[in-house]
Amino acid sequence: MTARSITDRLGGLAFGGDYNPEQWDEPVWKEDDELMRRARVNLATLGVFSWALLEPEEGRYDFSWLDAHIERLHAGGVAVDLATPTASPPPWFTLAHPDALPVAPDGTRLIHGSRDTYCLTAPAYRSAARRIASALAERYGDHPALALWHVHNEYGTLCWCDHTAAAFRVWLRARHGSLEALNAAWGTAFWSQRYTSWEQVLPPRATQWHKNPGQALDFHRFWSDEIIAAYREQRDAIRVHSDRPVTTNLMLPAYQNVDLWAFARELDVVTSDQYPSAPGLDAAADAAFHADRTRSLAGQRPWLLMEQGTSTVYDGDQILAKEPGDILRHTLGHIARGSEGALFFQWRQSRAGAETWHSAMVPHAGPDSRIFREVMQTGEAVARLGELAGSTVTASVAVLDDPDAWWALGVDGLPSSHLDYHASLVRAHRALWDAHATVDFAHPGQELSRYRLVIAPALFLLSDAGAENLRRYVAGGGTLLVQHASGYVDDRMHARLGGYPAGPLREALGIRVEEYRPLRTDQRITLSDGSHGTVWSESLRCEGAQTLAAYTHGMLTGSPALTRHRFGTGQGWYLSTRLDDADYGSLIGRLLKETGIEPELPGQPPGVEAVTRHAADGRHWHFLINHRTDAVPLPGPAHDLLTGALAHEIPPGGCVVLRRP
Ligand code: GAL
Repeated sequence: MTARSITDRLGGLAFGGDYNPEQWDEPVWKEDDELMRRARVNLATLGVFSWALLEPEEGRYDFSWLDAHIERLHAGGVAVDLATPTASPPPWFTLAHPDALPVAPDGTRLIHGSRDTYCLTAPAYRSAARRIASALAERYGDHPALALWHVHNEYGTLCWCDHTAAAFRVWLRARHGSLEALNAAWGTAFWSQRYTSWEQVLPPRATQWHKNPGQALDFHRFWSDEIIAAYREQRDAIRVHSDRPVTTNLMLPAYQNVDLWAFARELDVVTSDQYPSAPGLDAAADAAFHADRTRSLAGQRPWLLMEQGTSTVYDGDQILAKEPGDILRHTLGHIARGSEGALFFQWRQSRAGAETWHSAMVPHAGPDSRIFREVMQTGEAVARLGELAGSTVTASVAVLDDPDAWWALGVDGLPSSHLDYHASLVRAHRALWDAHATVDFAHPGQELSRYRLVIAPALFLLSDAGAENLRRYVAGGGTLLVQHASGYVDDRMHARLGGYPAGPLREALGIRVEEYRPLRTDQRITLSDGSHGTVWSESLRCEGAQTLAAYTHGMLTGSPALTRHRFGTGQGWYLSTRLDDADYGSLIGRLLKETGIEPELPGQPPGVEAVTRHAADGRHWHFLINHRTDAVPLPGPAHDLLTGALAHEIPPGGCVVLRRP
């Protein structure tokens, strides 16, 4: 089962969103039917937060209200993405099973009144979740309206309770085999942390000072496996009764609680949610980052944008509005990068409750509003793109992404708290996006030879196998850029001895880092080529590499900062500081040039996105998205799928989609 099975059922790309009719009444449902028709909605996600209605008391299910909504949607030609409601247990559940409430690291037990208030390791929660998933699947598993199963919502809630402690120990025994091995892995010889029985081993709860880094890393890995196991249980319970694809909406925020590579492998269709944290061009770049990452998690197969906001930008303590035209531009930014449609949270803006101020397809103002008009325009555009269902995107550049490396940069006691994993990935992607390159993300352990350029912005942790894989990639003709503080620890969080990074990578890069020298927060250094660095510097030695730029300050004066090494038939580049944005952009531009990577549609000015989707039969579609305030001429007149007419330019703030040949 693939995303294709959804588009086949829908007869085109998906358009719609989370639909929570239980917040409304009959007259509004009637209006919903009419407005969905006008907006060309063909898929609605039902039931994400409906547990309290579906199971008003333990073991007693009430499906009558859901039956009615499913039939109504079906009659209107809207297919259903049916959720299991397990992300928000009702109050009766928490009162009946207080041991299933989550506990924070400091021991505080949380109580219902929000959402996601459960501990995934609590047996009572797990069996209640399986039961309701199974009951839903039994009732609706072969309903003709059903296009997709949506298990849970944005898995990722952690807990430090006693159930968790017990499950963590089971996981640790399986991973390490013996207490001896666990002690060795966690380096418990230091600070008198040696464990002499399994009962002494706990989750990393609130401690006096630094937590043990190995324990912290293993706790993340444990939780990732636990989350995936919880998903699998529901998925398998559903599969007993239903042959429709099953997914869960992945969340790709600035923290990571799941190994998304592993999680994505369990999903019939990879789906994800995107909410930018800055408006304007940054929001478009964020959509591209998100879409490229989700496609990569999906193994370059088509995927589906499960949620975005029509006009919600989460900027710290305020919700900013999107700009006019952003609904279409962001939607096409995702579809251009492989999404088989675009769904929103949510259809109708809540009148009450915790997310009253989160935007929706039908805003508080009602259908006579800019937002709804743009929703209709976007629905019309998506409806015109049905022919490209199943096509995908190919990239020549990859940015390396490994959850272990992310978690490793989150442990206590690192030499700097300014080594931000997520920000480093975003930065690398942004520099490539600005240069009009199409980007994949890749795991450091995966086959990389299809990429001409690979960038490793933040691999602080790198396993032996990963290091060997990168060595092989360079030896075989690839060009690799490794950035500062990479390959410092192995997959047990043990420091690499004899110089960083890990041995095979040192060989490929032709360097040896002898000493890390974080910079003061107010320090900005100049390199010999005039570029500037902050955050980090390193004392490194060339062992075969050539110095392209050297440090010019303090004891590092004259020593290499940026190097290149010809190795095998490839090149290993190493950058040992964090370059300023403009300098980093120039370096990325230089690497693209050296590797002969051209934009797919050369000649686009800044602020115009150009991405191509390719079908297996050779057809392809150029998406051109203009974030500028002026029109951008096309190289020649071309048939635009969005208007059905000949286009000569991309209008200011507008988009065109061109079919080739
Ligand atoms: C998503 C979540 C939705 C809704 C939305 C808007 O992350 O899945 O349920 O909360 O954010 O905040």
